[in-house]
Amino acid sequence: MIILGIETSCDDSSASILIGKYNKVRVLSNLISSQIKIHNKYGGVIPEIAAREHVIAILPSIERSISEAKVKKQDIDAIAVTQGPGLVSSLLAGIETAKALSLAWKKPIIPVNHLSGHIYSNFINPKKIKFPLISLIVSGGHTILVYMSKHHHVKIIGETLDDAAGEAYDKGAQMMNLSYPGGPIIEKLAKKGENKDIVFPRPMLQSQDLNFSFSGLKTSLYYQLKKDKQWQKKIEKYSYSYQEAIIDILLKKSQKAISNYPVKSFLLSGGVAANSSLRERLEKNLNLNFYAPEIKYTTDNAAMIACAAYYLFQTKKEKAFKNYKSLQVAPNLKLA
Ligand code: KG4
Ligand code: ZN
Repeated sequence: MIILGIETSCDDSSASILIGKYNKVRVLSNLISSQIKIHNKYGGVIPEIAAREHVIAILPSIERSISEAKVKKQDIDAIAVTQGPGLVSSLLAGIETAKALSLAWKKPIIPVNHLSGHIYSNFINPKKIKFPLISLIVSGGHTILVYMSKHHHVKIIGETLDDAAGEAYDKGAQMMNLSYPGGPIIEKLAKKGENKDIVFPRPMLQSQDLNFSFSGLKTSLYYQLKKDKQWQKKIEKYSYSYQEAIIDILLKKSQKAISNYPVKSFLLSGGVAANSSLRERLEKNLNLNFYAPEIKYTTDNAAMIACAAYYLFQTKKEKAFKNYKSLQVAPNLKLA
């Protein structure tokens, strides 16, 4: 089965061609047109600008994804597209493109939950992942722990009560006058800032549930910077301690999740999964088959959307297909 994937939920316009056979998927092409440079100067994503950029970028990306994959349009069996969650105007650009192609090519659409896409970034390229499993999704908008008994059977067992982990990176970076997105730059600075003098709280660590909270961490950074007249000279130390707190919270809650739910595998995903310290710390301390996607599939991309769609088809067959007429964006779409 050959699937065209389309992803436009936030600030990356992406198109991918993926081929799936039994329990294996292979990415034939994955094009990402990033808008980071455009949004960088505003310190965050401006929805109106993001939508306009998607409209410009998405069709050329689709054309290139098809030619790079060396497939013909008529070989494509289905069009997978992100339905939500995300920015409504950004999602619309992808959904309307998918609808138009579906009408023109007479191919079905498989709508995909963006978060499900992140989970399935772990299933790209041959891998034998055993169920049941726990997946930690850490992105700019979400921090969720899920339990999966089998493909596309998802139960949320923990989530953030306020900010997401990626948001903590982005807002922390903004406070330290660093650029957007904050994650990669804080990670880089943190590597040179190991110290024990600056300490941040670990909210919710004592709570018995599997929920997270990151807004107190952000507030603590705000007050520590305000008190410290020399903070600009210690930016690497602040980055290190701030990142340590984020990783510590993610690790401890993941450990608690594993002890509450006996599973065979643990899957990390989402933009924050690009962080090498987080990957190493989880892999070392979880004592479980640990999986994280290739770095290029951690941040938003269409290959993960096509991969989730392939397994949705494997699970539901034709029921996974939607007619273009009945398809609508769902900016607040829930994972379960
Ligand atoms: O999954 P994603 O691309 O978009 C959403 O669905 O939100 O995640 C973007 C988030 C941003 O908050 C960004 O700061 C964070 O992922 N991120 C990182 C790293 N690379 C991206 N966070 C920590 N370390 C990184 N290396
Ligand atoms: Zn995402």
